[in-house]
Amino acid sequence: MKVLMVCLGNICRSPLADGLLREKIRINKLDASVDSAGTSGHHAGEAPDPRMRTTAKAHDLSIDDLRARQFSRTDFDDFDLIYVMDESNYTNVTQLAKNEHEKNKVKLILNELTPGMNTAVPDPYYGGDQGFEDVFQMLDKATDIIIKKRLTND
Ligand code: 4NP
Repeated sequence: MKVLMVCLGNICRSPLADGLLREKIRINKLDASVDSAGTSGHHAGEAPDPRMRTTAKAHDLSIDDLRARQFSRTDFDDFDLIYVMDESNYTNVTQLAKNEHEKNKVKLILNELTPGMNTAVPDPYYGGDQGFEDVFQMLDKATDIIIKKRLTND
């Protein structure tokens, strides 16, 4: 199973989701992989935002090695599941889908936690430190459920 995490810039929310799921796949010795991308290429090549890295480190997780890249149409071929953080990401990604099969790969990540609610992971970029911690708590819970429901065969 190959999973892609997508947000706008690929420097705050999706690299954290990537780092959390990557670590949980490793701990649980699962046959799965994860990557992340942004719908915008504005921050391509950059490391995650220092505030997101600090929040991750406070929870013993390093995302320092990740680098931003832009989502591409070919990601639909390469990934089985594509998690987006908000409705805007959903619109931008599904617009590039060639067919229903590709479109059906795209899911709002918090619908794993609260099915059908279409709740967004709020963009923390323009806010304070608490926003980054809130994002961590949401994505930590969502990635736990992804491990249990989608990546474990029992
Ligand atoms: P992200 O946050 O989508 O969670 O990576 C953002 C990062 C950068 C910008 C917006 C959101 N920006 O406008 O530069």
